[in-house]
Amino acid sequence: MAGLPYDLLSMEDLDRPQIEAVMARAAFYKRKVFAERARMDVLAGKTVSTLFFEPSTRTRCSFELAAKYLGAEVLNVEISTSSTAKGEGLKDTGLTLQMMGVDLFVIRHDASGAANLFASYVEPPVINGGDGMHEHPTQALLDLMRMLELMGSVEGRRVAIIGDISHSRVAKSDCICLGKMGASVVICAPPTLMPENPEALGAEATYDMDRALDGADVVMMLRLQLERQRAGLFPSVREYHRLYGLTPEKLAKAKPGAYVMHPAPMNRGVEISNPAADGAQSQINQQVACGVAVRMALMDMMIGEGC
Ligand code: CP
Repeated sequence: MAGLPYDLLSMEDLDRPQIEAVMARAAFYKRKVFAERARMDVLAGKTVSTLFFEPSTRTRCSFELAAKYLGAEVLNVEISTSSTAKGEGLKDTGLTLQMMGVDLFVIRHDASGAANLFASYVEPPVINGGDGMHEHPTQALLDLMRMLELMGSVEGRRVAIIGDISHSRVAKSDCICLGKMGASVVICAPPTLMPENPEALGAEATYDMDRALDGADVVMMLRLQLERQRAGLFPSVREYHRLYGLTPEKLAKAKPGAYVMHPAPMNRGVEISNPAADGAQSQINQQVACGVAVRMALMDMMIGEGC
């Protein structure tokens, strides 16, 4: 089996055989957990700590459940009531938890690069649960898993990633991951939400949503990250929805039956309409189940019997 790197901080850390190995193990765990309702003990005696300096429902809860399904102890650090609130820095928080016997850290932070910095301070492996505008590698892996479940392979498939690309860690991790797996990725945003150097993501770039949708097998919508925006990047939310929001009419411009994805949380009525989010082509809820399986696979392969 392809071994994994010590830390998982970026999709750059994994090569294609390693990604394929994670996908195979995640498929195994998805069957075990959701079809057989099995609980395992491959992480018995291990402690996983989640440190979320930024809000999260999916990533934090799925890491917690994934660790518990594998038999680990889970230490969720409540940042607002921890010594961080008294000004303690990342290094001292990390070293303190390390000395309590943590075997693996999962960190989310609003600062780009915080996961790398944290990993430089602590001895146990670190998984990046999303750091600022940098990366969200486990989201990219779960997105890939759902695509593989639906299409078998993404080789040669066209994936349109549409929305707030410049602020999106998901877009960056998805582009790297899908590129390694042979997909053809097109990114689409208004000029003010497109990165300065879109070619660096290895994707075709366009400001025209119809062009992005043309021939797309998968339409990945991104949340408009109002919390990361400086004012004035687009005239109004209504204007944004008209030009870049996914509706059934816009979706009809993609390949027939194209799959709709979104990392969530969604701004319904902004980047995606209710009928598009809840329609038969939507995979948004199924992505969540893949998230549990992918995180089980990673933790097993990094600190469990599968490492
Ligand atoms: N997709 C994602 O990272 O969701 P959360 O912010 O709820 O973890």
